[in-house]
Amino acid sequence: MSAATTKKPVVLIAEELSPATVDALGPDFEIRHVDGADRAALLPAIADVDAILIRSATKVDAEAIAAAGKLKVVARAGVGLDNVDVPAATKAGVMVVNAPTSNIVTAAELACGLLISTARHIPAANTALKAGKWARSKYTGVELAEKTLGVVGLGRIGVLVAQRMSAFGMKIVAYDPYIQAARAAQMGVKLMPLDELLEVSDFITVHLPKTPETIGLIGDEALHKVKPTVRIVNAARGGIVDEEALASALKEGRVAGAGLDVYSKEPCTDSPLFAFDNVVCTPHLGASTDEAQEKAGISVAKSVRLALAGELVPDA
Ligand code: NAD
Ligand code: MLT
Repeated sequence: MSAATTKKPVVLIAEELSPATVDALGPDFEIRHVDGADRAALLPAIADVDAILIRSATKVDAEAIAAAGKLKVVARAGVGLDNVDVPAATKAGVMVVNAPTSNIVTAAELACGLLISTARHIPAANTALKAGKWARSKYTGVELAEKTLGVVGLGRIGVLVAQRMSAFGMKIVAYDPYIQAARAAQMGVKLMPLDELLEVSDFITVHLPKTPETIGLIGDEALHKVKPTVRIVNAARGGIVDEEALASALKEGRVAGAGLDVYSKEPCTDSPLFAFDNVVCTPHLGASTDEAQEKAGISVAKSVRLALAGELVPDA
């Protein structure tokens, strides 16, 4: 066999992934690395690879796909595919795979953590105490028991959050037009229209994909319908809760607090929302546990192996 025919397929790793990913790929591939968020580096690097592995910071859009002459697979080590132009990939004959269940428990746990943090001011009180301030009355919070939690998007993560927060004694309502009321009722969740959810909820947690329909869904109009005591968590995608509208609502006392993991532009190191003591922020950590990263890495590595071998890739 000539050297040309024995050349290994090239897999480009464009973001930091668990070391288990490379182990699961095995020895049959040439592994290359690039910083996928660096566009000027990504476009030449993608030109002659067979597969690319990404998280959420790499945009595999139509331009990137057009630059990728040999590309066969885009593998997203996580859930959201909003950073991949799936129609452009499909048109170019490029398969797109993700790991839809790899980080759902991890993401649900972070959403619950943000929710509890907003109820009890844990981050602000921690910062104050470490700065030498014993501010007990300033950080009086609210109980979760008997309060109503509105879950916007009752999919995989929304259900896990609902189950976990039920254990705190919360009443769960949800808005999700694609879920049967009977299925929600089995889980003890009452489905309702979005407007009603906005009116009755003491806490709102968003678990939607980012699509043209969901961008700005929790915007100025919605934020005029909520209770002034409401706390809102977004650990789904930036922009579903409109950041400007949220900042105005917080400023005007129409919303009591927020927990945010995601931002309309990432990385986000400067936002008017960071100025509020009652806003708890994390830098897109929803999937960032050892367990979730290992599961995501192994899952997409297996899919890449199958896809490049010309085999069927089962739904994860
Ligand atoms: P999922 O597909 O299981 O659930 C999404 C739900 O939203 C579905 O039930 C669907 O019916 C509903 N939905 C879709 N469009 C809707 C609309 N217009 N109005 C109301 N409901 C609508 O997804 P999932 O695994 O639960 O993930 C949810 C989101 O969380 C995704 O955006 C994903 O990218 C994000 N996520 C973020 C992190 C993080 O690191 N912060 C980690 C994992 C997932
Ligand atoms: C996801 O959609 O899986 C998360 O945003 C996590 C990630 O991007 O790594």
